[in-house]
Amino acid sequence: MSEHELRVAKIRNGTVIDHVTAGQALNVLAVLGIDGDGGLGVSIGMNVPSDKLGTKDVVKVEGRELSQGEVDIISLLAPEATVNIVREYEVVEKNRVERPARVVGLLSCPNHNCITNADEPVDSAFAVVDDGVRCEYCGEIVREGIGDHLAVD
Ligand code: CTP
Ligand code: ZN
Repeated sequence: MSEHELRVAKIRNGTVIDHVTAGQALNVLAVLGIDGDGGLGVSIGMNVPSDKLGTKDVVKVEGRELSQGEVDIISLLAPEATVNIVREYEVVEKNRVERPARVVGLLSCPNHNCITNADEPVDSAFAVVDDGVRCEYCGEIVREGIGDHLAVD
């Protein structure tokens, strides 16, 4: 790194989601339910240079670890992401995300007639398939733009 590059500051305790597909940082924040109202320290880098990916996004969250469900959705948005747990400034754990077999309750079905969108909705459930995710209730397939179907409040 040269003296001309600006690096997003290191965090003390929390999670760094690194090697995020460029353009997905805001969707990752949405998955984490971070909308700017909370008290957590959050830093994001967008389109930063990456040896492996050309450019990447990076999301750093102080004082927070991720649930498996959150990691599962991130794997669909950013298949190359690494999840780094930081304690007292040191990376104590680094995991690649893995595509789950299914995701429950985290995405909403784009089919308005789907039972998961009824007045008394049941939790959504999607099977992860080669080219996207498939609603287990109505069969609708979401191939692109999974970030547009996040079931976040
Ligand atoms: N990081 C951070 N705060 C810390 C420690 C690390 O924000 N206290 C960030 C680094 O900037 C980097 C990520 O966490 O974006 C992973 O850190 P590290 O494993 O040290 O970096 P690399 O070896 O480059 O990781 P990789 O091999 O996964 O690219
Ligand atoms: Zn459906």
